[in-house]
Amino acid sequence: MKHDGILALLGLLAVSVKCSALYRPVSYVTGLQKDPLQLLNDTVLKLSSDGITPAIVVLDYGRDVEGYATFQVSQRSGDTSAFEMTYSESHALLDSDMGDGPLPLAAAMDTNRVNRYNITDKKSYTNRLIQGGLRYQKLNLSSAGEIFLSSIGLEPSVSRTPLTELPGSFNCSDPVLTRIWHAGARTLQLSEVPAHSVPDFWILTSEGALVDSLAPQPYYSIWSPSLTSYELQFSVTPISQGFGFTVLSDTLSNGIYIFVNIANASISAHAGSSELGTTLASGKLPASITLNSWHKVKSTVNLSHVSISINNLIILDFSQTASFYGSFSVGASLGHAAIFTNLSLSVDGQQRYSSTLKDKAALQDFLLGTNPLPVSVDGSRRDRIAYAGDLDMSSSTAFASTNGLEFINGSIELLGSYQLTPGFFVPNAKIQQFPRTTDVPANITGLIDYSFSLVSAMAKFYEQTGDSVFLARWAPKAARMLDWAHSQTLPNGLLNITDPSMGGDWDYYDPTLSGVVSKFNIVYAYSLKQWLPHLSQAGLNGTVYRQRLQSLQRAINDHLWSDKLQAYYQSATYQDFFSQEANALAILSDTTSSSVSGSNNRTAALLSTMARELSVLKGALAFSNASVASGWAQKISPYASGYHLKAAFHAHDGIQAKRLLHSLWGPISDPAHANYTGCIWETMNMDGTPGLGSSTSLCHAWGAGPTADLSRYVLGIQPVTPGFKEWKVAPQTLDLSWAAGDYPTPRGPISVDWFFDCSGRFQIAVRGPTGTKGTVFLPSPLNGTFEVQDGKTFRYRQ
Ligand SMILES: *[C@@H]1O[C@H](CO)[C@@H](O)[C@H](O)[C@H]1NC(C)=O
Ligand SMILES: *[C@@H]1O[C@H](CO)[C@@H](O)[C@H](O)[C@H]1NC(C)=O
Ligand SMILES: *[C@@H]1O[C@H](CO)[C@@H](O)[C@H](O)[C@H]1NC(C)=O
Ligand SMILES: *[C@@H]1O[C@H](CO)[C@@H](O)[C@H](O)[C@H]1NC(C)=O
Ligand SMILES: *[C@@H]1O[C@H](CO)[C@@H](O)[C@H](O)[C@H]1NC(C)=O
Ligand SMILES: *[C@@H]1O[C@H](CO)[C@@H](O)[C@H](O)[C@H]1NC(C)=O
Ligand SMILES: *[C@@H]1O[C@H](CO)[C@@H](O)[C@H](O)[C@H]1NC(C)=O
Ligand SMILES: *[C@@H]1O[C@H](CO)[C@@H](O)[C@H](O)[C@H]1NC(C)=O
Ligand SMILES: *[C@@H]1O[C@H](CO)[C@@H](O)[C@H](O)[C@H]1NC(C)=O
Ligand SMILES: *[C@@H]1O[C@H](CO)[C@@H](O)[C@H](O)[C@H]1NC(C)=O
Ligand SMILES: *[C@@H]1O[C@H](CO)[C@@H](O)[C@H](O)[C@H]1NC(C)=O
Ligand SMILES: *[C@@H]1O[C@H](CO)[C@@H](O)[C@H](O)[C@H]1NC(C)=O
Repeated sequence: MKHDGILALLGLLAVSVKCSALYRPVSYVTGLQKDPLQLLNDTVLKLSSDGITPAIVVLDYGRDVEGYATFQVSQRSGDTSAFEMTYSESHALLDSDMGDGPLPLAAAMDTNRVNRYNITDKKSYTNRLIQGGLRYQKLNLSSAGEIFLSSIGLEPSVSRTPLTELPGSFNCSDPVLTRIWHAGARTLQLSEVPAHSVPDFWILTSEGALVDSLAPQPYYSIWSPSLTSYELQFSVTPISQGFGFTVLSDTLSNGIYIFVNIANASISAHAGSSELGTTLASGKLPASITLNSWHKVKSTVNLSHVSISINNLIILDFSQTASFYGSFSVGASLGHAAIFTNLSLSVDGQQRYSSTLKDKAALQDFLLGTNPLPVSVDGSRRDRIAYAGDLDMSSSTAFASTNGLEFINGSIELLGSYQLTPGFFVPNAKIQQFPRTTDVPANITGLIDYSFSLVSAMAKFYEQTGDSVFLARWAPKAARMLDWAHSQTLPNGLLNITDPSMGGDWDYYDPTLSGVVSKFNIVYAYSLKQWLPHLSQAGLNGTVYRQRLQSLQRAINDHLWSDKLQAYYQSATYQDFFSQEANALAILSDTTSSSVSGSNNRTAALLSTMARELSVLKGALAFSNASVASGWAQKISPYASGYHLKAAFHAHDGIQAKRLLHSLWGPISDPAHANYTGCIWETMNMDGTPGLGSSTSLCHAWGAGPTADLSRYVLGIQPVTPGFKEWKVAPQTLDLSWAAGDYPTPRGPISVDWFFDCSGRFQIAVRGPTGTKGTVFLPSPLNGTFEVQDGKTFRYRQ
């Protein structure tokens, strides 16, 4: 008896420890009731179905969470074999069969947004794989039985430090700005993936790789993405329903998916990454192809033709124009499971790859193992991969909030190690990739400007940390990129993108650009500007790059400015409209105010053009109106607008900064919004709704820029020398009555607290770390600067 008591107590302790580590839903709705009920710690949910009408419970976590879904079955009876959980960032998509999935592209979370369980025991069940960003979870028992569930939640796969306990903080008299800061911080928190935290995708067994309900992830090597004609062979034992494989696939799993469905003896080929893509061909399977026995599959592909034989019998043979080159892999659709072994790939009769798929090396070959580095990914749900372009934006936000230096450093380590022979970098990498030790022997990228953003992020990391080892490692690589850009400039001083296939951009749904493009020139100027203060410290000749920046800025001002638009036009080809991002970067890189050839300071003119031509009720357009005629989509981009906001602050345009914050980020961060996730979204339509339909990421780090800007410009905290040995505080007050917060630096936090008292007099208190020196600049219209030395608290009262 005594022992039982202790066991019971231990059990309780174990449960309560586990509970405190869980994300718990805050409310739930059952099939019949309308108003959500609060989900308490001791709430036990009863799901009871007659096998005809399923029992449905919808859980709401109140905001995005991510991790391993888990629940405890305390009682069960009858047939409980058909229990499923569906996930979605938005409520609307919970009602679709697949939730807001599937998401086949990057193996950093479960492919499917539905997990199915055959409940056989009274025990705790936990998903094997991570579900990325979700706010809602639907429970569905559809077999004729009953289950009682408790301790439902998500074991977090990322840090769950409460937002009010982060290293950085921000609060002010306008609750909208305060919640924007926190939504940005939350977005970063959900995008920071710790090293070795992603579980292995395949289960390795003595017979081969067991693949259950997982999209194929293409085999990865330097040569695999450009394969065109080959023969793929493998052996497979289907265990449940059937199996699949992919050929001619790009690195993000888009290619030709072959869906083998033993359950109804059919085989079909689909464009894309799953059986949901357009059907290219279909056929019947012979009765000899059964579950639980080995079959030999052979697929021969070339630029136009795919043929598949199973056990030496041709089953499907078709011509296609959906995909012309790419890699291969094996997988299983939702509900399907199979064991694969003895996979080999031959080109012209020569074996190029083979594996038994029984050991860890296979996981690395297909990028299905764990992530070697801590990384900052783009999105919590979609795009759980590292992108070079987004890092310039997300790094500043991480510095101001989570202080997630290791994640930014890890992403730079990963992406920066994939430098191509000419000097530019790959635009993205799966987080399961290992960093390289030598250059990538290739010379083409589809997204040239992402390399400039990566180079800028490197400079920002050094500015934040003052880490001289980092500087010594990355400055030469950054210089190679900048030197490549210099080698591509025309006699008139402008960068020319000669190869049209390099000119894609983040707005992948818009036309690509080449030749003389303002964005590519100005983002180059912006990278040079970021690096200039640090080049000589890194042993490079700063004068050389300073001269390059000056002549680039002169050329930009002489050739790309349109008097008619009062802005820098889109490109030599498209002179009748302009880009929000390119023009914002012109202000941020001081290109507008560089008066080298006696030109005027264009900053104020450009800002007023941007306000006039881009403002819409729900934010600001990413391209001015006339772009529509040339095929540009009319979208609002929290990413491009992030640069617009920085530019407004940089030029002390508080009115425009406030308008952007309130019109664009205000609604996103509003808990009353139908699509609220507590995070910042990827893209929006003109009417302020998520802009890419159901695939829109509702937690996307590139949109979280304002968090950094509120800290940098409203608290006013900025480095003067790398690592904040010297710093300044120069607040812009935006008509607020007070603001306060902390900014993490390698030497300790800098704290700022300012307010206007009842009679409108300004007061400020500033404290920095010991061993540093700060300068406080009183906000306009006051006039005064003060020194803050060595960890002392500085107070000023007007
Ligand atoms: C519910 O559980 C959490 C985590 O264990 C705990 O922090 C909280 O105080 C509990 N709430 C109540 C009302 O018991
Ligand atoms: C946003 O919410 C609306 C209203 O519920 C819904 O129709 C839409 O699907 C949601 N969008 C996304 C991308 O989740
Ligand atoms: C559920 O699991 C039990 C026990 O392993 C098994 O007998 C039963 O066939 C399974 N039911 C389904 C529908 O898979
Ligand atoms: C519940 O699950 C069953 C079995 O997967 C499915 O057919 C049904 O559509 C689901 N119902 C809801 C409302 O999700
Ligand atoms: C901001 O300050 C207000 C007023 O002091 C306080 O009520 C609120 O909890 C604070 N918010 C945060 C996120 O610190
Ligand atoms: C077999 O089942 C799949 C998946 O349910 C379906 O898409 C396909 O049309 C079916 N094929 C035949 C020949 O019935
Ligand atoms: C592709 O293979 C088919 C079938 O073997 C063949 O007819 C065709 O000529 C091949 N095409 C190319 C471009 O090699
Ligand atoms: C770029 O790659 C192509 C194809 O591999 C090669 O022919 C060419 O010489 C390379 N150019 C440079 C500048 O490396
Ligand atoms: C500049 O780029 C355009 C567009 O690709 C190309 O046609 C032109 O030849 C390039 N100019 C030079 C001098 O390389
Ligand atoms: C740096 O470059 C400038 C301009 O080309 C040159 O005049 C100067 O001598 C260089 N300095 C060093 C230390 O090489
Ligand atoms: C240019 O104008 C902007 C905004 O009017 C101002 O903030 C900036 O200091 C000016 N720059 C120079 C170099 O005069
Ligand atoms: C600030 O005060 C100094 C010294 O009185 C004066 O020279 C300067 O013009 C003032 N600046 C502004 C912006 O008022």
